[in-house]
Amino acid sequence: MNKVKIFDTTLRDGEQSPGCSMNLSEKIVMARQLEKLGVDIIEAGFAIASPMDFKSIQAIASAAPNCTIASLARANKGDIDAAWEAVKDAKKPRIHVFIATSDVHMQYKLRMNREQVLQTITEMVSYAKAKCDDIEFSAEDASRSDREFLAKCFSNAIAAGAKTINVPDTVGYSTPQEMGELIAYLKEHVEGINDVDISVHCHNDLGMGVANSLSCVKAGATQVECTVNGIGERAGNASLEEIVMALRTRRDFYDADTNINTREIYRSSRLLSNIIGVPISPTKPIVGANAFAHEAGIHQHGMITNAQTYEIMNPDEIGVPHRALVLGKHSGKHAIRERLEAMGYEIPDDELEDIFTRFKKLADEKKTITSSDLEALTLHRSKVIRPDEESTAPVCQLVSHSITSGSGIPKLSYIKLKKDNNVMEDVEFGAGPLDAAFKAVNKMLGVNARLEDFSVRAVTEGEDSIGEAVVKISSVATGEMYTGSGISTDIVEASLQAYISGINKMFEAGE
Ligand code: KIV
Ligand code: ZN
Repeated sequence: MNKVKIFDTTLRDGEQSPGCSMNLSEKIVMARQLEKLGVDIIEAGFAIASPMDFKSIQAIASAAPNCTIASLARANKGDIDAAWEAVKDAKKPRIHVFIATSDVHMQYKLRMNREQVLQTITEMVSYAKAKCDDIEFSAEDASRSDREFLAKCFSNAIAAGAKTINVPDTVGYSTPQEMGELIAYLKEHVEGINDVDISVHCHNDLGMGVANSLSCVKAGATQVECTVNGIGERAGNASLEEIVMALRTRRDFYDADTNINTREIYRSSRLLSNIIGVPISPTKPIVGANAFAHEAGIHQHGMITNAQTYEIMNPDEIGVPHRALVLGKHSGKHAIRERLEAMGYEIPDDELEDIFTRFKKLADEKKTITSSDLEALTLHRSKVIRPDEESTAPVCQLVSHSITSGSGIPKLSYIKLKKDNNVMEDVEFGAGPLDAAFKAVNKMLGVNARLEDFSVRAVTEGEDSIGEAVVKISSVATGEMYTGSGISTDIVEASLQAYISGINKMFEAGE
């Protein structure tokens, strides 16, 4: 059985796509989960891109010490120096150097000819190798590059010390057959290729990111670059959970496996969706809400007789929690911990305290609390994780509120907040109840934020289900976008919590 390394780029290629950005605290939480998931390499960022990216890479390296930590770098000294500074304290550092090799990129983006690109590869991979033993080289837009030239580029990179060569389908243009044939061609024509890992990095513009990656594995690729939930530039990157489960479920065909602990897939997917405020489509393979639901009568009948009639994977394999568990008002902290552990959530003591406080509040509002409710409380951490300290309470918290809604009456909000031990209150009118509430928050906190997007949906079952609100706000001063989310059985309160959590992220970012 061949081992395929999983190179996760959720925190780099995924995070750089619009609407998927994460702050430092969120990246640390996600990195810890990726380590639990068992990814081999975490691409933690693009060190030269911003001081925040640089700091995040260092923080991710301490949060996930068992993974190789990579920083991306263009093929120039400044980028490579920054990448090395960011990863050098990781237990297993990697510098990921890239340059475009297709004619269209070389002519219009790089304004370099083939000879110049070949020379740059040799010089810059050698330069990076002098700093770091583990060098990955990527030929951007490889799938649209001239094959002979591409083979020369990879041969130069290997001769200069690259241990992994990566073949990106940068614009998601290729087909599975073409990608498989490209890998086979490179295996024959690249000098030294048998001594290095062959990696693939497929975007999903034509919906073939996963199929392309799998075809490359079949042709001999030993590393796959992917993201949780398939997030990434444009239509996204190949999705980690789909690749891993395809390799596992069709071992008979691919004869390959990964180091992924598949029981952490469900939690990784939910955590990411929750952090970035992007819901998972119900029909998304592996992790969508309907992935294991069998509505049609004929299917249900088959399932009862033998699950294998319609189910090719067992939901336990990917860690889907059993939903039947019910908790009551009198359940203690110990019972909550036990339930969470049974659902696969290991919670540190201080976070459990916080979940328990919110559980008690919820138990006053609903008769019974299901495992989905408990999961919603757990995913909506109210604490902020910092690289150097224990978790801390958010800067600003909602103390109480009262908001009027109705026809033919003014929409009025009364909001009481606590910020850094100062309690403040205000009353505002607005076009609608939330407009009135958000105006009051902005005025009290002295922030200039614009609401860009807002959604609310039920995240648990029943009439008294928990509502989750997600807001995307932008800072008028900097244009930066922040995502906030909040949950409550009262959707107005959930919306207000979401707005305040977005504002807290603005404060955390130093605005
Ligand atoms: O899509 C791409 O080509 C990339 C490279 C930087 C690997 O993300
Ligand atoms: Zn990419």
